[in-house]
Amino acid sequence: MPTYRSDLDSIPVYVPGRPIDEVARELGIDSLDKLASNECPEPPFPEVIEAIAASAAGVNRYPDNSVYELSRAIARHQGVEANNVWVGSGSSEILRCAALAVGGPGTSAVFADPSFVMYRIATMVAGSRAIPVPLTDSFDHDLGAMFSAIDDETTIVYVCNPNNPTGGHLAGSELTAFLDAVPEHVLVVIDEAYAEYVTADDYQTFINEAPNRPNMLVARTFSKIYGLAGLRVGYGVASSELIGSLRRTQAPFTVTSAGQAAALEALRHQDQVAKRREANDGGRRDLVRDLSALGYTPAPTEANFVYFEPDVDAAELGDALLHRGQIVRVLGDGIRVTVGTASENDRFIEALDTVTHS
Ligand SMILES: Cc1ncc(COP(=O)(O)O)c(C=O)c1O
Repeated sequence: MPTYRSDLDSIPVYVPGRPIDEVARELGIDSLDKLASNECPEPPFPEVIEAIAASAAGVNRYPDNSVYELSRAIARHQGVEANNVWVGSGSSEILRCAALAVGGPGTSAVFADPSFVMYRIATMVAGSRAIPVPLTDSFDHDLGAMFSAIDDETTIVYVCNPNNPTGGHLAGSELTAFLDAVPEHVLVVIDEAYAEYVTADDYQTFINEAPNRPNMLVARTFSKIYGLAGLRVGYGVASSELIGSLRRTQAPFTVTSAGQAAALEALRHQDQVAKRREANDGGRRDLVRDLSALGYTPAPTEANFVYFEPDVDAAELGDALLHRGQIVRVLGDGIRVTVGTASENDRFIEALDTVTHS
């Protein structure tokens, strides 16, 4: 048996939303809705599917390791320079590489709890100490407590805006005050995976500030509104100096040629992205209204999911929903349901109505 590092077993294992085929086999149910992974319910745009198909003929070659075209297209889209863009195999890779670059024994990382579980996993893989800071009672980041939690060993702070799994957002002004206060030797990662879904007026993306703040990295993904979760493309925006250091921890060729082609094409369809944002806004309003009518208290959300903590055991409720064909995410005391198509949302509410009243 190999000699493992002594803390290996303490690293949490990432638990993905259960795949439809697996649940179908296990429960013998044909009709299932997967509302557990905050994926886009629509397939990629038709032109994107064509771009993926066209890329197939060249996969005997390694992909462009510099991600030249896509980095430039992202930069143009976001109004930054190409050397401020760092593309990875999903934003998870960007988060993980950042943790590895500034982590290690004798360092610590601050993040909200509950928040995206990868912050904890990346922290521990890097060999750093995790400092989780509970959300407020209204499920918001407690920036004051997070600031106080920064200790002598802290090298990184993660802020998830909007937050997964709860969906709430921080106003731009609150986050600016926090960024101004955090010492410059601490890297602040602002994870904006769900930014494209936000409709709140006081939300602010920090992409355009990132190149000018030496200790800030903003992470984005093509896995959500662009509908490319299966191709694994995400990116970070930061100063070129910061990117130059962080990317030393990245393996070569992690962004596939199909992924680069797909993301490049997807960026050209901002009209469709806007339609998806609108549809998601309608869907989440419907879910919030219907959950409230059933007696639940959904947390305010700006993302493509809704979170609520039922009075009953969340795991039991999640299981009852699963037996009615609804795959949702159970997280401690809460349930997170992804906004699906209108019919998926209706079926979820119908199933919840039935299990609530049985
Ligand atoms: C907050 C947040 N950040 C990042 C990601 C990772 O996305 P990906 O690695 O697919 O880009 C997710 C995925 O669910 C997420 O919820």
